[in-house]
Amino acid sequence: MRPCPGDFLFSAFSSYSLLRKEDPVAHTSNAGKQWWKEAVVYQIWPRSFQDSNGDGIGDIPGITSRIPYLAELGINVIWLSPVFGSPNDDMGYDISDYHAIMTEFGTMNDFDRLLTTAHDNGIKILMDMVANHTSDEHEWFVQSRSSKDNPYRDFYYWRDSSGTDENGNPLPPNNWGSEFGGRAWEYDETTDQWYLHMFSKKQPDLNWENPKVREAIYEMTRWWLDKGIDGFRLDAINIISKPEGLPDDPSVDPAKHSSSIPFVIENGTRVHEWMHEMNREAFSHYDCMTVGEMSATPPAEAIQYAGFESDELHMIFHFEHMGVDSDPEAGMGKWSLQKFDLRELKEILNSWQTELAGKAWGSLYWNNHDQPRVVSRFGNDAEEYRELSAKMLATVLHFMQGTPYIYQGEEIGMTNVQFDSIEDYKDLDSINFYHDMVTEQGTLTHEQAMELIYAKGRDNARTPVQWDSTEYAGFSTIEPWIGLNDNYPTVNAADAQDRENSVFAYYQQLIKLRRGELKEHMVYGTFVPLDTEDADVYAYERHADNGEKLLIIANFTDQEQERTYELAAHNPQLVISNYSDDAHQTLRPYEAKVYKVLSN
Ligand code: NOJ
Repeated sequence: MRPCPGDFLFSAFSSYSLLRKEDPVAHTSNAGKQWWKEAVVYQIWPRSFQDSNGDGIGDIPGITSRIPYLAELGINVIWLSPVFGSPNDDMGYDISDYHAIMTEFGTMNDFDRLLTTAHDNGIKILMDMVANHTSDEHEWFVQSRSSKDNPYRDFYYWRDSSGTDENGNPLPPNNWGSEFGGRAWEYDETTDQWYLHMFSKKQPDLNWENPKVREAIYEMTRWWLDKGIDGFRLDAINIISKPEGLPDDPSVDPAKHSSSIPFVIENGTRVHEWMHEMNREAFSHYDCMTVGEMSATPPAEAIQYAGFESDELHMIFHFEHMGVDSDPEAGMGKWSLQKFDLRELKEILNSWQTELAGKAWGSLYWNNHDQPRVVSRFGNDAEEYRELSAKMLATVLHFMQGTPYIYQGEEIGMTNVQFDSIEDYKDLDSINFYHDMVTEQGTLTHEQAMELIYAKGRDNARTPVQWDSTEYAGFSTIEPWIGLNDNYPTVNAADAQDRENSVFAYYQQLIKLRRGELKEHMVYGTFVPLDTEDADVYAYERHADNGEKLLIIANFTDQEQERTYELAAHNPQLVISNYSDDAHQTLRPYEAKVYKVLSN
């Protein structure tokens, strides 16, 4: 039986063994073939995946019931967004109990059944570990905030005020803003000090400088791995090391809505030391897969985290391509909009391909639970082009080197949503942004703020998965916790599974090629960019060791384009395309095609 919270706290102390380990695990190289390089991952955001008990909220038995669907799609790893005990201020990314399952999602028995069912179907499960912060309702924080001399005080960042304002109110310790708007510090009257929170005030940051914190996290990590899970996605893991003395961030503009992590805490001084330590204490003892979420991380830094010889993580998620449709001049992070330039997108993705090549492994994604739907963002969600452009985007991503991630609904071409009222939104990031800009500062009108939320808000990704055309889209039997996208009668999985030329069928083909016949090309082949200055067409090659080459061509526009490519003159065999025939040098709207050129 799981120890009660008090016992667990005590055990975190008594089992404290860091730095006592005398025999570190031998260095293992990640160069060469690895199962996690060959995997295709599917991300599940449980609250909106499948409701099984008619409460309008997705749950774990619901996921288990859809394992056959995922097996049919062909993926072999699930990244499960947090299902741990949580008061849900940030939809599970605020964990109050790392050893429990959120009541709304089911029980630990339900989880065990899911794990077994997934494994029986050849599917592995990665848990989403949130260890930069906990919920303020986690027992560690409850203890920590109770008094300055509580043994858990130093589990979090507590600091004195930096002074008082003209009205005598305490001022925060420094100028850091939180990712979700407002300052990154919350004043707590109990002890007349402030605690740090890089996200909402209900997500206090853990103090990783404290070895007891690290040991408690590693212990929890091992507990889940011992249970049989297959790895972790590590949330916001590159911001765990705060700069000494917590200095002001010179880039913070107090007049702007805070919407990104202060630069001074990205990839801090001790983060690699701790990733090594975590690898040594936990990951290296298991055949598991690890992927770290890393904002503001360039390829050179990624090579330190996920280099084949680095003994830290297997791969990271970078954010660089997620910024191409924001206006840096606006100084509002993601809350600005500009038309993206394909040349910039190519430059970013191509440089990740070439810079990591032979040194580190990468991850490939267009979507996740924090991003708008890609077909609405970089494709075209008008009825005429939705499926074509969804398939085109899938082609571009899945033929690159790295482990591809598919976000729930992407495989049927789900689109962004537009609710009329801010009251219909559930994401605290969007809600805070609206209230800050419209209600408090008055710098944006309702319409202006909603335009940005329609384009960038996280709820675009969080509407329920559209399973069929029945009421509530087959997601639930009652009105779901968040509105459905009203295109579900036509955009849904049942329809897609029935049609040979659906987006779903196309993803099936891509996955089959990657995991089978074209594994050497798609997973391990060398990436060669083509025509980087072409603003309308994305083209590149993959060269396999056996001398075979793939030519990937994708038209990002709704116009016909004429192009010739050298490889196309070498007897190419069309391996996949989103049109039913080949018009050769003419690329039709959003056309994507891949040729294999046989070695002679
Ligand atoms: C990144 C997660 O993906 C996001 O959903 C969450 O709000 C923050 N980290 C805080 O945990």
